[in-house]
Amino acid sequence: MSNPDTDKPVDLAEETPAWRLEPTRAGLPPLAAAQFDVASTEDSLELLVASTQELGDLFRVYAPGRKRDTWICNHPDDIKRLLVTNHRNYTKGVGLDRVKILLGNGIMVSEGDFWKRQRRMIQPAFHRKMVEQYAVVIDTALDNAQVRWDAAVHSSEPFDITAEMSALTLDIILCSIFGEDLAWLEKRMGGNNPFAVVTEHSARDLLFAYKFRSLAKLVVELVAARRAGQWERFDFLQMLMDARDKDDRPMPDREMVDEALTLVVAGHETSASALNWAWYLVATHPAALERLEAEVDAIDCVAVAQPGTASEPSISGPRSMTYAASEQLVWTQAVLKESMRLYPPGWLLTRRSVEEDVLGGYRVPPGTDVMLSPYLIQRHPTYWPEPEAYRPERFLPEAEAAREKWVYIPFAAGPRHCVGENFALYEMTVHLARMARRYRLEYLDEGPIPIEAAVNLRALRPLRFRVHFRKTP
Ligand code: HEM
Repeated sequence: MSNPDTDKPVDLAEETPAWRLEPTRAGLPPLAAAQFDVASTEDSLELLVASTQELGDLFRVYAPGRKRDTWICNHPDDIKRLLVTNHRNYTKGVGLDRVKILLGNGIMVSEGDFWKRQRRMIQPAFHRKMVEQYAVVIDTALDNAQVRWDAAVHSSEPFDITAEMSALTLDIILCSIFGEDLAWLEKRMGGNNPFAVVTEHSARDLLFAYKFRSLAKLVVELVAARRAGQWERFDFLQMLMDARDKDDRPMPDREMVDEALTLVVAGHETSASALNWAWYLVATHPAALERLEAEVDAIDCVAVAQPGTASEPSISGPRSMTYAASEQLVWTQAVLKESMRLYPPGWLLTRRSVEEDVLGGYRVPPGTDVMLSPYLIQRHPTYWPEPEAYRPERFLPEAEAAREKWVYIPFAAGPRHCVGENFALYEMTVHLARMARRYRLEYLDEGPIPIEAAVNLRALRPLRFRVHFRKTP
C-alpha cells in the first residue's frame, strides 16, 4: 500500500499508534456515549455534536441496529484523504440503498467506471458558460415569485418563506430540466404538475420514492415525443439526450431517466434549504442586511421599476445577469456561503472503505463505514473563530484565501463534489439580489429554530416573515 499524497509506501505498523479506540463490541465499550445509529435516529445531529466535543476529531460509534461501527472524521487531513487524495478507496456508504430506490443508478449513487462515464457526459452542462444560459428560466421563475411576494406585502397573513423557497427552486429546476415541455408533461397529467409530489409529500420515505419513481414512464414518453417530433430544445434533458460517451455512444433511455430524476431531487431541496436559512439569517442580522441591500442597489439593471401592487406586478432588475456579474456580488455570495457554513443542506456525507486505509494514524479495515459532516467541520472552533456567529465577512476574498483548506465543504470536494455547484450558486445569487432590491423581510417568530437533520438539513417548522417593499433606490 502506498501513500497517495507522497507515493511512498505506508508502514501501517509504524504509522498506527496503539489502538486508542478499542472495538466496541467486545467487553465494555469505551465509546458508550457514542452508541447510536448515525443518520437513522432523529437526534443524530445532536448526538454527533456532543460526541465530537467529547471524543475529538476522529472516533467511532457503534450502531446497535446495524451491528457495525461507523468512523466519524472531523479533521481537514482526513477529509482531504477521503474526498480527494484517496477517494478511489471509498464508495458511497450508509443510506445508499434507500437513495437507490429513489434515484435508480443515477450519478448521485453510481460507482466506478459507470459513474465516471456518466459524470463526463453530464458535467459539461454545468459549466458556468452553460449555466448562465438558464438566466431566462430563473428570471421567469422570479417574475412568478414576484407576483406572490407582492401579494404577500398586501396580505395580513405571515409569508411562509420555507414553502416559498421550495416552490421557487422546484419551478427553477423543473424548467431547467424539461424547459417548455413541462407544460406537455402537465397536460399528460390532466393539467397537474407531475412533480408536485416533491413539495406536497415532504417526508422522504418509501411512499415518496414509489410516487416519484412512477414519473419515470412520463419522462421516457417525453424523450420519445422529442425524438419523433424533432423538437429543438435547450434544457438539461436535451443535454442528456445529446450527450455521447468517449466511444460516441448515447445514454440509454433508462439511464437518462435516472439522471433526469436525480437532477430534480439533487437540485431542489438543497437549494430550497440553503435559501430558507439565508433569508432567516440575513433578516435577523441587520448589519449584514444593510450591506446586502447596498450591494444589490448598486447593480446596473436592464429594467427597474417602482414597487408595484399585487394587481400590477412590475419587474425589477437585475435581469439576465452573466455568471461573472453574479460573482462580483461578493457580499451577496458571502451571505449565502456563510449561511451554508452554519446550515449546510447536505450535512452528512457517507462513505465505505474498499481496502484498508489509514486515517488520523489509525487503521481503517476494509468495508468500514466512514462519515464526515460539513456541519461539524464548518463549526469547528479551531478553524472558525466564534463558530456559531453569523459573519459573512468570513467569505470575502482575502479571508477566504487565508483560511485552511477542506474546512468548508457544503458542496463536498474532489471528483464527487456537487456537479450542480455553479448552477446552485448562480440561481441563489440572482434570486437574493433581485428580491433584496425590492423587498425587506421581517422575521416574525422568536427563539431557536428546531432543525430536522434528515437527508438535508431543514427547518423543522416553516419560517414566517412579514414582507415589506423597500424604498425605491
Ligand atoms: C445549495 C445547493 C446544493 C448543495 C448544498 C449541494 C450539495 C451537494 C453535496 C454535498 C454533494 C455530494 C454528496 C456526496 O458526495 O455524498 C452533492 C452532489 C451532487 N449534487 Fe448537489 N448540491 C446543491 C445543489 C445542486 C443542484 C442545483 C444540482 C443539479 C441541478 C445538484 C446536483 C448534484 C449531483 C448530480 C450530485 C452527485 C454528483 C456525483 O456524485 O458525481 N446539486 N451536492
